[in-house]
Amino acid sequence: MKQDMIVILDLGSTENTTVARQIRDMGVYSEIHPHDITPEELKSLENVKGIILNGGENRVVDGAAVDVDPALYQCGYPMIAIDHPTARCERTLDTLPGTEALREFVFDVCQAQANWNMKNFIEDQVELIRRQVGDRKVLLALSGGVDSSVVAAMLIRAVGRQLVCVHVNHGLMRKNESESVIQVFRDQLHANLIYVDATERFLGKLENVADPEQKRKIIGGEFIRVFEEEARKLEGIDFLGQGTIYPDIIESGTKTAKMVKSHHNVGGLPEDLKFELVEPLKQLFKDEVRACGVELGLPASMVYRQPFPGPGLGVRCLGAITRDRLEAVRESDAILREEFEKAGLNKKVWQYFTVVPDFKSVGVKNNARCFDYMVIIRAINTVDAMSATVERVDWDVLQKITDRILKEVEHVNRVCFDMSPKPPATIEFE
Ligand code: XMP
Repeated sequence: MKQDMIVILDLGSTENTTVARQIRDMGVYSEIHPHDITPEELKSLENVKGIILNGGENRVVDGAAVDVDPALYQCGYPMIAIDHPTARCERTLDTLPGTEALREFVFDVCQAQANWNMKNFIEDQVELIRRQVGDRKVLLALSGGVDSSVVAAMLIRAVGRQLVCVHVNHGLMRKNESESVIQVFRDQLHANLIYVDATERFLGKLENVADPEQKRKIIGGEFIRVFEEEARKLEGIDFLGQGTIYPDIIESGTKTAKMVKSHHNVGGLPEDLKFELVEPLKQLFKDEVRACGVELGLPASMVYRQPFPGPGLGVRCLGAITRDRLEAVRESDAILREEFEKAGLNKKVWQYFTVVPDFKSVGVKNNARCFDYMVIIRAINTVDAMSATVERVDWDVLQKITDRILKEVEHVNRVCFDMSPKPPATIEFE
C-alpha cells in the first residue's frame, strides 16, 4: 500500500470526522474505526503509523462507559488520547485546540509521510479491488450521478470488463443525460454497459398518479425491479459495486459498526440475490469523491454536477405526469442550465432547475387566446440542503431565459421565479 495511515478510534466523540479531515488536510490518510476493534483487526490494516483515541466528554456510547481493549496498547503503535472539551461552540479546523499537538504526533512521533493524494488512493484501491474480486464479475447500477460514476470509473480501472454496468433510463432523466452516460462509459472508457430504456414502463406505472409520495414510491420500487430483472439475466456475478461514501457510514458517529451493516442491504435487493459488496469510495468525503473522479478522467460536467433527486424530473413535473409537461420540464431545464453556464452561474449557484405545475393559465399567442402551462424557475444556495436561500439572479439573465423558454418550449405561455427560501418551502416541489 502506498499510503501511511493514522487510525482514529471512536470513543464516543462527535469530532471524529473533524479530526479525520484535519489529518487528511495535513496530507496523511486517516480512518475512523469503532472503539471495540480487536488487535487482530487492527493488525490487518496496512501501514498504520499511529492511533488516536478520540474520546467524548465521558467516553460514553449508548449509555455505557467505553474503553478500548487493553491488548491494543501492546500492539506497538504510537498512541495519543484526545479528550474534547464539553463546549460545542462553532469551531473551524484552524481554531481547533491541539492542531499543533496533532501535527507533532502525526509527523514527529508516528513519522507518518504526507503521501495522501488521489493518485496514491486510486492505486491502493485498484490493488484492493483486484485482490477482492480476482477474476470474478461485479455488477453496478450506474445512474450517472457523481458517486456511481466515480465507482464505475474506479472499477473499470481495476477490473475492466469484469464490471457489468446497468444504466436504467426511467424516462425522467434530464436532456441528453443517458446519452452522455453511454458516451462516456461505453465509448470512452469501453465499459461493459447494459442500457435499459424503461421509459414506457415507468410512465405507464405513473399514469394518473398525482400524490408525490406515491410517485416517489413507484419510481423507487420500479427501479429496483428493473435492475433485479437485469441482474437475474446475467450469470456468474458475485459482487455488487456500490457508491457508498464516508458520510453514509459515519453520519451516526459512534454507531460506525452498526451503520456499515445496514449498508449491506442497500438498494433493497431481494435476499436470494446474494452479492458481496465492493465499495471503493467508502472512505471518501464528497469533495474527495469529486477529486477522485477527475483523477480517473471523468468529465467535469459529470463530476461537478449539481444534486439531482433519484426520482428525477418526475418530482418536477408536478401532479400526475403527462408527456407534454414532462417534455416542457426537460426542455426548460436544458435552457436554464445552458444560460446559467453562459453567465458563469453554474459555478456559483448550488442548485437550479425548473418545474411545471399541472394547471394552465390564459395568454395570447399570435393574436389569439391560448391556454397553456407555466414554467417555474428555482435557483437556491445552501450548505447542507437543510435550509436554503434564493439566489438573486441577474434580471437580464432571467429575461434571456424567459424569452428562450417562451419561444422554444411547447405548451408554455408563462415563466415565474420562485422566491421562497427553505423553510418554509422545500428545495424540490414534491
Ligand atoms: P428538499 O426538497 O427535501 O431537497 O428540500 C433537499 C435536497 O435533496 C435532493 N433530493 C433528493 N436527492 N433522492 C436524492 O438523491 C431523492 O429522492 C431526493 N429528493 C430530493 C433535492 O434535490 C435537494 O438537493
